[in-house]
Amino acid sequence: MSKPILVFDSGIGGLTILDEIRQALPNENYLYLFDNARLPYGELGEQELISGCLSLITGFVQEESVSMVIIACNTASTLILPSLRAVLNIPVVGVVPAIKPAALLSRNKHIGLLATPGTIKRAYTHELIDQFASGCTVELYASSELVMLAEQKAAGNPITQHQLAQILRPIHQSELDTLVLGCTHFPILKREMQEYLGDKVLLLDSGKAVAARVLTLKLRIQQELLQGVLSKQDDEYRDVNREELEQESKNTLYGTELAYYTSERI
Ligand code: SIN
Repeated sequence: MSKPILVFDSGIGGLTILDEIRQALPNENYLYLFDNARLPYGELGEQELISGCLSLITGFVQEESVSMVIIACNTASTLILPSLRAVLNIPVVGVVPAIKPAALLSRNKHIGLLATPGTIKRAYTHELIDQFASGCTVELYASSELVMLAEQKAAGNPITQHQLAQILRPIHQSELDTLVLGCTHFPILKREMQEYLGDKVLLLDSGKAVAARVLTLKLRIQQELLQGVLSKQDDEYRDVNREELEQESKNTLYGTELAYYTSERI
């Protein structure tokens, strides 16, 4: 059985990323770890976030052997990826706001980024905007309340138009035609947001891009493994066993399981 992929978030937002990855790799094994003890991440100081995430994730990876870590949280990804990659010897994939596609897809070159206060402040986010959206007017909207509304909806408690309007009214009044959902919690409210903002606003998240990245990485790892094994064999052995090895390589990609871990009881 192949080692699982670990998907991490502060809460249930990362499930929107997990859904997309599972569609790309439906038979992979997954573990889901969420730090609901310290939710919402958007309100935490940078040092607290870095040290907390690092100790939680590295501790978990020491206990559970995983093949890859997905930081399914923009607030954490825009901050912790370099430190995490420095201490883990497995691939670490992050999620960052879809600024580049938004700038490309916007017709009036007026876009918005809706994210947590942490993500909105981040130097990384501002570099993304400078690099990919310098030709656009970019409006920034910070909200942790929307994170909590998504948690509320996922817990089965309905949210009201009034609650949404309190947060989204400035966006509704803006001329922007494309809104980046820069927090993995927000796609949980996509239907309600689209209803409130109307069809004139395109809502973009990073789920499919992350899934494509994970799929590419997995295939590359499998290919390298296969090439490594093949290069050790002589020509005759290689011919006889190629089919068998390819099948074995596919088998390690497939198998299905999902377990949830949380930093606090919910
Ligand atoms: C939060 O915990 O504040 C939201 C996490 C995210 O940015 O995806």
